[in-house]
Amino acid sequence: MKPRLWLVVGARPNFVKAAPVLRAARASGLFEPTLVHTGQHYDPALSGVFFRDLGLPRPDLHLEVGSGSHAAQTAEVMRRLEPALAEARPRALVVFGDVNSTLAAALTAAKLGVPVAHVEAGLRSFDRSMPEEINRVVTDRLSETLFTTEESANRNLAREGVPDAAVELVGNTMVDSLLHGLERARELAPAVRERLGLAAGGEYAVLTLHRPSNVDRGEVLEALLAAVAEIGRELPVVFPVHPRTRERLADRPAAERSAKSAGLALCEPMGYLEFVGLLDGARLTLTDSGGVQEETTALGIPCLTLRDNTERPVTLTHGTNLLVGTDPDKILAGARERLAADRERRRPPPLWDGRAAERIVAALGRRYAA
Ligand code: UD1
Ligand code: UDP
Repeated sequence: MKPRLWLVVGARPNFVKAAPVLRAARASGLFEPTLVHTGQHYDPALSGVFFRDLGLPRPDLHLEVGSGSHAAQTAEVMRRLEPALAEARPRALVVFGDVNSTLAAALTAAKLGVPVAHVEAGLRSFDRSMPEEINRVVTDRLSETLFTTEESANRNLAREGVPDAAVELVGNTMVDSLLHGLERARELAPAVRERLGLAAGGEYAVLTLHRPSNVDRGEVLEALLAAVAEIGRELPVVFPVHPRTRERLADRPAAERSAKSAGLALCEPMGYLEFVGLLDGARLTLTDSGGVQEETTALGIPCLTLRDNTERPVTLTHGTNLLVGTDPDKILAGARERLAADRERRRPPPLWDGRAAERIVAALGRRYAA
């Protein structure tokens, strides 16, 4: 019998990172893969549409944990995962990224003696006020095999004392998904632009915001939207609103009204292929998303990151990403600078070539299916 390999996903970026790994694992014939969905994200717009767009099969196991405080959500994943994992005893369990489901699954597996492999290990913002940073540090500590997307991650792990033999620089599975879906995304793009009221062939910007530090405090969110509204006077800005942000905007109707009147087109979170198609044609992106920083790097789209730090420094050195924080003057200056410059495509980071998942599965095969 083939060794069992469990893949655990829970939130929007996990689905994007996991889909190519599951596809490669199935194609390799080395493992019997099981897909587990924790249910951290459950809205069709954050979950179902990603399964469809990414060609993910229905999960073999759905834990349906839903939303909750950090402790409650993490604990609920652990509580529901443990009995199934104890019974199946897979040869290894793979987790992705830095969300609560990642940490919860890694901790459950490690305590049961199931080896953990972490895809997107070693990224560090060095900012422990970010919940994801805590998830990254602890998940890496618990992992036996650490797959990294960029060289900075290897350096971070070496500094933390992780043995070199445990770390494999494989590239970026989010870019695997991007390259895999790009052609279909481009086919959808004209209809998406029309639906959003964007002029055919016209320029536009895309905004995404969901980091607690940016959206959970009303005054920060208002100041950010006011700055983006300035850009909106020159360029239509499409703003697919994450549910966390939608809830905060509901507390601040004035901010939502002024954003709308200043040329920001607020819409529901978009499906993966529609969003990638929109991103691909954008003149400028403003974001606090980790994944969007990487996707704009791969596409060569100018990106302003509305944060003071990034755990993905390769997007600054190999991409078109610029850290502008939350200061309105810096955001506007960054936007003007990027809009004045020609679109430039830099050399993509090493191994961001669409084949990271194949490398991951080959390494998993050597380690767990030999
Ligand atoms: C989570 C991750 C974050 C990741 C983001 C991707 C953690 C700590 N955070 O943040 O790292 O960048 O996902 O999008 O794991 N909600 C819905 N529908 C859903 C899911 C959530 O309405 O399907 C609402 C709920 O009110 C919930 C809130 O959004 O309380 C936040 O959801 P949660 O999963 O806790 O964190 P995110 O902000 O989505
Ligand atoms: N994304 C999407 N629709 C949207 C916003 C984002 O499909 O409306 C995709 C985006 O292309 C990327 C992923 O969601 O693949 C990133 O997720 P998110 O920004 O929520 O999380 P982060 O990367 O910050 O953890």
